Amino acid sequence: MSKPPLLHLENLKKYFRVKEGWGKVRYIHAVESAPLDIEWGETLGLVGESGCGKTTLGRTILRLYQPSSGKIFFKGEDITQVNMLPYRRKMQIIFQDPSSSLNPRMTVGEIVGEALDIHKLASSRGERKERIEALLERVGLNSEQANRYPHEFSGGQQQRIGIARALAVEPEFIVCDEPVSALDVSIQSQIVNMLEDMQAELGLTYLFIAHDISVVRHISRRIAVMYLGCVVELAESYELYKNPLHPYTRSLLQAVPIPDPDLTRARKREILAGEIPSPMDSPPGCRFNTLCPQAKQQCAQAAPELREAAPGHRVACHLFSE
Ligand SMILES: Nc1ncnc2c1ncn2[C@@H]1O[C@H](COP(=O)(O)OP(=O)(O)OP(=O)(O)O)[C@@H](O)[C@H]1O
Ligand SMILES: [Mg+2]
Repeated sequence: MSKPPLLHLENLKKYFRVKEGWGKVRYIHAVESAPLDIEWGETLGLVGESGCGKTTLGRTILRLYQPSSGKIFFKGEDITQVNMLPYRRKMQIIFQDPSSSLNPRMTVGEIVGEALDIHKLASSRGERKERIEALLERVGLNSEQANRYPHEFSGGQQQRIGIARALAVEPEFIVCDEPVSALDVSIQSQIVNMLEDMQAELGLTYLFIAHDISVVRHISRRIAVMYLGCVVELAESYELYKNPLHPYTRSLLQAVPIPDPDLTRARKREILAGEIPSPMDSPPGCRFNTLCPQAKQQCAQAAPELREAAPGHRVACHLFSE
């Protein structure tokens, strides 16, 4: 039997229950359709606009949110209902906002050491100290900084602390949830390069979340594009960039800034007019049909499935389903 993918999602859905006045309850369909596999050692980029469900998907995969339905398989094992403690070691997350993800009352050494303690990864105080120092050095910090508090560090350094904390437990899979969005452009590439080096050295697998395709383009082997809770396109990074099929992906790529102002203006005209519907009142059929310039009657009636349109290139769009 061939080896299962590192991660396999089966009909995974995450709805949030929200109370409205008069005892009325409604549901936000944050993750509706994400039939993804993540292969061992790859970086899968996940892109889409704010609110499309990227963080919810990342957190649901790690069971930080309990799925509403569907299944998560890690190395072929169904982890949807299991006690996650043994898996927490293998599956980690790096957060978007480093300052709010670090406990301000703990020193950097305590933050990194806590991960070691939870999983009993150091047998003596000496070993614990050595491991903390090695981890801080691994992420480009000074081991003498272990006694300092998070607020004494810059944003980029705080993100390095968050990475050291994730690395402490020797994970195999890391959800990188927009790990550089809050940082200066000059720092972003340093952190991205470090994550890439660590991946090569330690054989890590990443789900790398970003708003913008240009951030994940170079580091991802494949990219998944998400719109209103649904993965609408999935392809190898170069292929997606060169040959985007879904009208939504095409509009995202047109929104990538280009240095020539005339060209930017010309392209802007092609960008979609109108507001993205709320995930509480998603339109029936294809969720993109209300904004899609190429929508047909069928698009408002039935939701398209993510299907292979070319080898390794999948798209959820009726234009490609014939
Ligand atoms: N804990 C929660 N309770 C209720 N609704 C939530 C919760 N978390 C997220 N949502 C809603 O689910 C939808 C998806 O949110 P999510 O944070 O996953 O989007 P995102 O793609 O990560 O956005 P961003 O790019 O801004 O980080 C949004 O409509 C959001 O308001
Ligand atoms: Mg998010």
